[in-house]
Amino acid sequence: MLYRPLGATGLRVSEIGYGCASWWGQKAFPEDEALRLVHYAIDQGVTLFDTSPAYSGGNAEPRLGRALKGLDTSKLIVATKAGTRFVGGRVRRDMSLAAIEQDILKSLVTLGLETLPVLQLHGPDPSELTPEFEDGLLALKRRGLFQALGANSFDPVVLDLIIASPAFDLVMMDVNVLRPERKTQLKAAKAAGKGVLAGMPLAMGHTNLQILKIRGVRDLWYAARALKNHRHDISAGARFRFLNQVEGISGAQAALSYVLSHSEISCAVVGATRQTHLAEDLAASGLTLPPDLARRIIETQMRR
Ligand SMILES: NC(=O)c1ccc[n+]([C@@H]2O[C@H](COP(=O)([O-])OP(=O)(O)OC[C@H]3O[C@@H](n4cnc5c(N)ncnc54)[C@H](OP(=O)(O)O)[C@@H]3O)[C@@H](O)[C@H]2O)c1
Repeated sequence: MLYRPLGATGLRVSEIGYGCASWWGQKAFPEDEALRLVHYAIDQGVTLFDTSPAYSGGNAEPRLGRALKGLDTSKLIVATKAGTRFVGGRVRRDMSLAAIEQDILKSLVTLGLETLPVLQLHGPDPSELTPEFEDGLLALKRRGLFQALGANSFDPVVLDLIIASPAFDLVMMDVNVLRPERKTQLKAAKAAGKGVLAGMPLAMGHTNLQILKIRGVRDLWYAARALKNHRHDISAGARFRFLNQVEGISGAQAALSYVLSHSEISCAVVGATRQTHLAEDLAASGLTLPPDLARRIIETQMRR
């Protein structure tokens, strides 16, 4: 596993991280399998784990806490979020400083940590990013509640504001072959010395036509999520199925090599709940994207 700097934070992270969200956090996914995947990832050199109190019906963050219990977490960069939480059967949003402080204190207990290595605002609104709000966040940081501050958003306006603000150390955005427009934010993030966590680096499996491979309840869940939230990505992903035809590397490795070919990215945070998938993904660290494939990806991106 190779490691990259997380912007100017002084922290280094494995270039492939593990996303403790989606199916991994669902109660229907057996706890022992979920914990085994985290332990396997750590054994393979993964140091960055991303989660949120709002993920997977509120089950993902406590499950990560159980996976880390009793382990030496001093070298791990656990990244969680604040501003959203799962209460009363649904995700509720409160981006006030008081709510963020409560979220942090709860996450510290849930994850069994004394400080959060990375705290990310979960989808802030541009109107919320005021100087007073950012000063309040920095005051929480000075108390040692977290080490690095970031925000997770898919909105370019929000991403631009986060990148431009000196209060933030990093940003999490969706980066994959279906999102060439993110290059603008990637360049700006690098110029501003911000770390970048790339979420959904495998385009949620759509370049692999995952939606056509229903093998059980897990795949039905993925298919339902895609149809509900990311319908356009299903057809867009099909145009990149050539990623699965490269000699010597798998489709997932080709997709990850594309993401990691961007030097602005600190870590590609993958979601994988089958150990064979995770092993394949982690083996993508250090691979070079073949030049012919890079050209074909760009040509396909330009044809949309
Ligand atoms: N999705 C979002 O809206 C979102 C938003 C913010 C942040 N994030 C962060 O990004 C992380 C990753 O996002 P994600 O899980 O939605 O998307 P992703 O990593 O792009 O894709 C995950 C999908 O790819 C499949 N997969 C993984 N490795 C594979 C392989 N080697 N071969 C074939 N299929 C493979 C997984 O299947 P199996 O489970 O069957 O292995 C899963 O269906 C999240 O955990 C979270 O930390 C995501």
